[in-house]
Amino acid sequence: MSTQPLSSPASLQGRKKITTLSLLTKKQQGEPITMLTGYDYPTALALDQAGVDVILVGDSLAMVVLGYENTLSVTMEDMLHHCKAVRRGAQYALLVGDMPFMSYQVSISEAVRNAGRFLKEAGMDAVKLEGGRERLETIRAIVAAGIPVMGHLGLTPQSVNQLGGFRPQGRDAAAAIRLLEDAIWLQQAGCFSIVLESIPAKLAAFVSQSLDIPTIGIGAGAGCDGQVLVTHDMLGLFERFTPRFVKQYVLLQEKMKEAFIAYIQDVKNAAFPTKEHSIEMSDEEWQVFLSQSNHCFVQEGIHFEKHHNRR
Ligand code: KIV
Repeated sequence: MSTQPLSSPASLQGRKKITTLSLLTKKQQGEPITMLTGYDYPTALALDQAGVDVILVGDSLAMVVLGYENTLSVTMEDMLHHCKAVRRGAQYALLVGDMPFMSYQVSISEAVRNAGRFLKEAGMDAVKLEGGRERLETIRAIVAAGIPVMGHLGLTPQSVNQLGGFRPQGRDAAAAIRLLEDAIWLQQAGCFSIVLESIPAKLAAFVSQSLDIPTIGIGAGAGCDGQVLVTHDMLGLFERFTPRFVKQYVLLQEKMKEAFIAYIQDVKNAAFPTKEHSIEMSDEEWQVFLSQSNHCFVQEGIHFEKHHNRR
Protein backbone atom coordinates (compact mmCIF):
# COMPACT_ATOMS: atom_id res chain seq x y z
CA MET A 1 0.00 0.00 0.00
CA SER A 2 1.48 3.40 -0.97
CA THR A 3 1.53 6.29 1.49
CA GLN A 4 0.46 9.26 -0.60
CA PRO A 5 0.68 12.65 1.14
CA LEU A 6 -2.75 14.04 1.98
CA SER A 7 -3.83 16.59 -0.60
CA SER A 8 -5.63 19.67 0.67
CA PRO A 9 -8.72 21.16 -0.99
CA ALA A 10 -7.77 23.89 -3.48
CA SER A 11 -9.78 26.43 -1.46
CA LEU A 12 -7.15 26.18 1.30
CA GLN A 13 -4.32 27.68 -0.75
CA GLY A 14 -2.87 30.69 1.08
CA ARG A 15 -4.96 30.09 4.17
CA LYS A 16 -4.32 31.84 7.44
CA LYS A 17 -4.51 30.66 11.03
CA ILE A 18 -8.10 30.63 12.30
CA THR A 19 -8.72 32.89 15.30
CA THR A 20 -11.72 33.62 17.49
CA LEU A 21 -12.22 36.71 15.33
CA SER A 22 -12.33 34.58 12.15
CA LEU A 23 -15.26 32.66 13.67
CA LEU A 24 -17.12 35.88 14.39
CA THR A 25 -16.53 37.04 10.82
CA LYS A 26 -17.81 33.72 9.49
CA LYS A 27 -21.03 34.15 11.50
CA GLN A 28 -21.46 37.71 10.23
CA GLN A 29 -20.94 36.53 6.64
CA GLY A 30 -23.22 33.52 7.04
CA GLU A 31 -20.40 31.04 6.40
CA PRO A 32 -20.84 27.80 8.37
CA ILE A 33 -18.12 27.01 10.92
CA THR A 34 -16.71 23.48 11.01
CA MET A 35 -15.40 21.87 14.18
CA LEU A 36 -14.35 18.28 14.94
CA THR A 37 -12.69 16.70 17.92
CA GLY A 38 -9.07 15.52 17.78
CA TYR A 39 -6.93 13.82 20.37
CA ASP A 40 -3.65 12.87 18.68
CA TYR A 41 -1.00 13.98 16.18
CA PRO A 42 -2.02 12.06 13.01
CA THR A 43 -5.69 12.97 13.37
CA ALA A 44 -4.84 16.62 14.00
CA LEU A 45 -2.68 16.59 10.87
CA ALA A 46 -5.53 15.15 8.76
CA LEU A 47 -8.11 17.54 10.26
CA ASP A 48 -5.87 20.53 9.64
CA GLN A 49 -5.02 19.50 6.09
CA ALA A 50 -8.69 18.88 5.35
CA GLY A 51 -9.36 22.48 6.39
CA VAL A 52 -11.50 22.19 9.51
CA ASP A 53 -11.88 25.57 11.27
CA VAL A 54 -11.68 24.36 14.88
CA ILE A 55 -10.16 21.27 16.50
CA LEU A 56 -11.65 20.60 19.91
CA VAL A 57 -9.58 18.39 22.17
CA GLY A 58 -12.79 17.29 23.86
CA ASP A 59 -13.06 15.57 27.20
CA SER A 60 -14.91 12.93 25.12
CA LEU A 61 -11.30 11.68 25.05
CA ALA A 62 -12.29 9.88 28.25
CA MET A 63 -14.84 7.70 26.44
CA VAL A 64 -13.71 7.35 22.85
CA VAL A 65 -9.95 7.03 23.39
CA LEU A 66 -9.40 6.03 27.02
CA GLY A 67 -12.43 3.73 27.32
CA TYR A 68 -14.06 5.25 30.43
CA GLU A 69 -17.80 4.95 31.04
CA ASN A 70 -18.33 8.74 30.84
CA THR A 71 -16.25 11.94 30.75
CA LEU A 72 -15.88 12.39 34.50
CA SER A 73 -12.64 10.44 35.00
CA VAL A 74 -10.38 12.31 32.62
CA THR A 75 -7.74 14.48 34.33
CA MET A 76 -5.97 17.75 33.55
CA GLU A 77 -2.79 15.77 32.87
CA ASP A 78 -4.62 13.46 30.41
CA MET A 79 -6.07 16.48 28.61
CA LEU A 80 -2.78 18.38 28.42
CA HIS A 81 -0.94 15.30 27.14
CA HIS A 82 -3.38 14.95 24.21
CA CYS A 83 -3.59 18.72 23.58
CA LYS A 84 0.19 18.80 23.10
CA ALA A 85 0.00 16.03 20.48
CA VAL A 86 -2.76 17.89 18.62
CA ARG A 87 -0.75 21.11 18.75
CA ARG A 88 2.14 19.34 17.03
CA GLY A 89 -0.15 18.21 14.18
CA ALA A 90 -2.18 21.37 13.53
CA GLN A 91 -0.99 24.60 12.02
CA TYR A 92 -4.11 26.48 10.94
CA ALA A 93 -7.15 25.36 12.93
CA LEU A 94 -8.20 27.17 16.09
CA LEU A 95 -7.34 24.78 18.92
CA VAL A 96 -9.72 24.51 21.86
CA GLY A 97 -8.90 22.50 24.98
CA ASP A 98 -11.83 21.13 26.96
CA MET A 99 -11.57 21.76 30.70
CA PRO A 100 -12.15 18.43 32.48
CA PHE A 101 -14.59 17.78 35.29
CA MET A 102 -13.46 19.40 38.58
CA SER A 103 -10.77 21.54 36.93
CA TYR A 104 -12.97 24.68 37.06
CA GLN A 105 -15.75 23.91 39.54
CA VAL A 106 -13.86 24.09 42.86
CA SER A 107 -12.66 27.68 42.89
CA ILE A 108 -12.24 30.56 40.48
CA SER A 109 -8.49 30.84 41.03
CA GLU A 110 -8.02 27.12 40.32
CA ALA A 111 -10.16 27.50 37.18
CA VAL A 112 -8.01 30.39 35.90
CA ARG A 113 -4.79 28.51 36.67
CA ASN A 114 -6.01 25.37 34.89
CA ALA A 115 -7.31 27.33 31.91
CA GLY A 116 -3.89 28.99 31.66
CA ARG A 117 -2.16 25.61 31.53
CA PHE A 118 -4.02 24.76 28.30
CA LEU A 119 -2.47 27.79 26.61
CA LYS A 120 0.89 27.93 28.34
CA GLU A 121 1.83 24.24 28.48
CA ALA A 122 -0.20 22.69 25.67
CA GLY A 123 -0.33 25.45 23.05
CA MET A 124 -4.13 25.66 22.84
CA ASP A 125 -5.72 28.90 21.61
CA ALA A 126 -8.81 28.75 23.84
CA VAL A 127 -10.63 26.61 26.41
CA LYS A 128 -14.16 25.23 26.60
CA LEU A 129 -16.15 24.65 29.75
CA GLU A 130 -19.69 23.44 30.46
CA GLY A 131 -22.51 25.26 32.22
CA GLY A 132 -24.63 28.38 32.25
CA ARG A 133 -25.51 30.93 34.96
CA GLU A 134 -23.53 29.04 37.63
CA ARG A 135 -20.29 29.57 35.66
CA LEU A 136 -20.50 33.30 34.88
CA GLU A 137 -17.99 34.50 37.48
CA THR A 138 -15.53 31.79 36.47
CA ILE A 139 -15.85 32.66 32.78
CA ARG A 140 -15.36 36.37 33.48
CA ALA A 141 -12.20 35.63 35.46
CA ILE A 142 -10.73 33.35 32.76
CA VAL A 143 -11.54 35.86 30.02
CA ALA A 144 -10.03 38.65 32.16
CA ALA A 145 -6.80 36.61 32.24
CA GLY A 146 -6.70 36.87 28.44
CA ILE A 147 -7.95 33.35 27.72
CA PRO A 148 -10.76 32.93 25.16
CA VAL A 149 -13.63 30.79 26.47
CA MET A 150 -16.10 28.66 24.50
CA GLY A 151 -19.29 27.88 26.46
CA HIS A 152 -21.29 24.66 26.32
CA LEU A 153 -25.05 24.44 26.99
CA GLY A 154 -27.82 21.86 26.62
CA LEU A 155 -26.65 18.31 27.21
CA THR A 156 -23.52 18.90 29.27
CA PRO A 157 -21.95 15.44 29.69
CA GLN A 158 -20.05 16.33 32.88
CA SER A 159 -23.48 16.70 34.56
CA VAL A 160 -24.66 13.29 33.30
CA ASN A 161 -25.51 12.17 36.85
CA GLN A 162 -27.54 15.30 37.52
CA LEU A 163 -29.31 15.09 34.14
CA GLY A 164 -30.20 11.42 34.66
CA GLY A 165 -28.31 10.20 31.58
CA PHE A 166 -27.26 11.40 28.12
CA ARG A 167 -30.67 12.85 27.18
CA PRO A 168 -31.82 15.80 25.05
CA GLN A 169 -32.33 19.10 26.91
CA GLY A 170 -34.50 22.21 26.56
CA ARG A 171 -37.60 20.38 25.37
CA ASP A 172 -40.21 22.24 27.43
CA ALA A 173 -40.80 25.99 27.37
CA ALA A 174 -39.33 26.62 30.84
CA ALA A 175 -36.14 24.72 30.05
CA ALA A 176 -35.90 26.47 26.68
CA ILE A 177 -36.22 29.92 28.30
CA ARG A 178 -33.59 28.98 30.86
CA LEU A 179 -31.23 27.90 28.07
CA LEU A 180 -31.81 31.12 26.11
CA GLU A 181 -31.09 33.20 29.24
CA ASP A 182 -27.93 31.19 29.91
CA ALA A 183 -26.74 31.71 26.32
CA ILE A 184 -27.24 35.48 26.55
CA TRP A 185 -25.41 35.58 29.90
CA LEU A 186 -22.51 33.51 28.58
CA GLN A 187 -22.16 35.99 25.73
CA GLN A 188 -22.23 38.90 28.19
CA ALA A 189 -19.63 37.15 30.37
CA GLY A 190 -17.24 37.15 27.40
CA CYS A 191 -17.55 33.74 25.69
CA PHE A 192 -16.45 33.94 22.05
CA SER A 193 -18.69 31.02 21.01
CA ILE A 194 -21.09 28.48 22.52
CA VAL A 195 -21.57 24.77 21.84
CA LEU A 196 -25.26 23.78 21.87
CA GLU A 197 -25.60 20.04 22.44
CA SER A 198 -28.68 17.89 21.94
CA ILE A 199 -31.44 20.49 22.05
CA PRO A 200 -34.43 21.02 19.72
CA ALA A 201 -33.42 22.42 16.32
CA LYS A 202 -35.97 25.26 16.63
CA LEU A 203 -34.54 26.39 19.93
CA ALA A 204 -30.92 26.19 18.67
CA ALA A 205 -31.82 28.31 15.62
CA PHE A 206 -33.62 30.86 17.85
CA VAL A 207 -30.65 31.09 20.23
CA SER A 208 -28.21 31.38 17.32
CA GLN A 209 -30.18 34.26 15.79
CA SER A 210 -30.40 35.98 19.18
CA LEU A 211 -26.64 36.03 19.77
CA ASP A 212 -23.81 38.02 18.18
CA ILE A 213 -21.29 35.25 18.92
CA PRO A 214 -21.35 32.01 16.90
CA THR A 215 -23.07 28.87 18.13
CA ILE A 216 -21.72 25.44 17.23
CA GLY A 217 -24.28 22.67 17.29
CA ILE A 218 -24.09 18.95 17.97
CA GLY A 219 -27.47 17.31 17.75
CA ALA A 220 -28.97 20.80 17.56
CA GLY A 221 -30.07 21.00 13.91
CA ALA A 222 -29.00 23.08 10.94
CA GLY A 223 -29.82 26.50 12.39
CA CYS A 224 -26.56 26.87 14.34
CA ASP A 225 -23.64 28.92 13.01
CA GLY A 226 -21.44 25.83 12.91
CA GLN A 227 -21.41 22.10 13.51
CA VAL A 228 -19.26 19.78 15.59
CA LEU A 229 -19.09 15.99 15.83
CA VAL A 230 -16.96 13.67 17.90
CA THR A 231 -14.47 12.43 15.29
CA HIS A 232 -14.54 8.85 16.57
CA ASP A 233 -18.34 8.82 16.09
CA MET A 234 -18.22 10.11 12.50
CA LEU A 235 -15.39 7.74 11.61
CA GLY A 236 -17.17 4.73 13.12
CA LEU A 237 -14.35 4.22 15.61
CA PHE A 238 -16.43 4.19 18.78
CA GLU A 239 -18.36 0.96 18.99
CA ARG A 240 -20.27 1.34 22.30
CA PHE A 241 -23.09 3.55 20.98
CA THR A 242 -23.72 6.09 18.23
CA PRO A 243 -26.04 9.00 19.02
CA ARG A 244 -28.90 9.49 16.55
CA PHE A 245 -27.55 12.89 15.49
CA VAL A 246 -24.24 11.45 14.24
CA LYS A 247 -23.61 10.98 10.53
CA GLN A 248 -21.07 8.19 10.04
CA TYR A 249 -18.80 8.80 7.05
CA VAL A 250 -16.84 5.54 7.29
CA LEU A 251 -16.70 2.46 9.55
CA LEU A 252 -13.05 2.55 10.59
CA GLN A 253 -13.40 0.08 13.47
CA GLU A 254 -14.44 -2.55 10.91
CA LYS A 255 -11.70 -1.55 8.49
CA MET A 256 -9.12 -1.65 11.29
CA LYS A 257 -10.26 -5.13 12.33
CA GLU A 258 -10.06 -6.34 8.72
CA ALA A 259 -6.49 -5.02 8.45
CA PHE A 260 -5.47 -6.72 11.72
CA ILE A 261 -6.96 -10.05 10.60
CA ALA A 262 -5.15 -9.79 7.25
CA TYR A 263 -1.85 -9.09 9.04
CA ILE A 264 -2.28 -12.05 11.41
CA GLN A 265 -3.02 -14.34 8.46
CA ASP A 266 -0.03 -13.02 6.50
CA VAL A 267 2.36 -13.65 9.38
CA LYS A 268 0.95 -17.13 10.01
CA ASN A 269 1.12 -18.00 6.29
CA ALA A 270 4.60 -16.49 5.87
CA ALA A 271 3.17 -13.99 3.39
CA PHE A 272 4.68 -11.16 5.41
CA PRO A 273 7.42 -9.99 5.47
CA THR A 274 8.51 -10.55 1.87
CA LYS A 275 11.69 -9.37 0.14
CA GLU A 276 10.26 -5.87 -0.38
CA HIS A 277 9.84 -5.42 3.39
CA SER A 278 13.31 -6.78 4.21
CA ILE A 279 16.71 -5.17 4.50
CA GLU A 280 19.40 -6.40 2.10
CA MET A 281 23.08 -7.11 2.77
CA SER A 282 25.61 -7.74 0.00
CA ASP A 283 26.70 -11.38 -0.54
CA GLU A 284 30.29 -10.28 -0.10
CA GLU A 285 29.68 -8.82 3.36
CA TRP A 286 27.58 -11.82 4.27
CA GLN A 287 30.39 -14.24 3.43
CA VAL A 288 32.83 -12.22 5.54
CA PHE A 289 30.31 -12.23 8.37
CA LEU A 290 29.86 -16.01 8.15
CA SER A 291 33.59 -16.67 8.12
CA GLN A 292 34.06 -14.51 11.22
CA SER A 293 30.95 -15.50 13.14
CA ASN A 294 32.35 -18.87 14.23
CA HIS A 295 34.59 -17.07 16.74
CA CYS A 296 31.61 -15.89 18.73
CA PHE A 297 30.37 -19.42 19.27
CA VAL A 298 33.80 -20.96 19.84
CA GLN A 299 34.45 -18.40 22.56
CA GLU A 300 31.12 -19.25 24.22
CA GLY A 301 31.56 -23.02 23.69
CA ILE A 302 28.45 -23.28 21.49
CA HIS A 303 28.21 -25.49 18.42
CA PHE A 304 27.52 -23.19 15.48
CA GLU A 305 25.53 -25.71 13.34
CA LYS A 306 23.09 -26.32 16.16
CA HIS A 307 21.80 -22.78 16.09
CA HIS A 308 22.02 -21.54 12.53
CA ASN A 309 21.40 -22.64 9.03
CA ARG A 310 23.80 -21.10 6.53
CA ARG A 311 21.36 -19.19 4.28
O1 KIV B 1 -15.96 16.60 24.62
C1 KIV B 1 -16.45 16.77 23.49
O2 KIV B 1 -16.12 16.11 22.51
C2 KIV B 1 -17.45 17.82 23.37
C3 KIV B 1 -18.22 17.88 22.08
C4 KIV B 1 -19.31 16.89 22.13
C5 KIV B 1 -18.73 19.23 21.82
O3 KIV B 1 -17.67 18.54 24.27
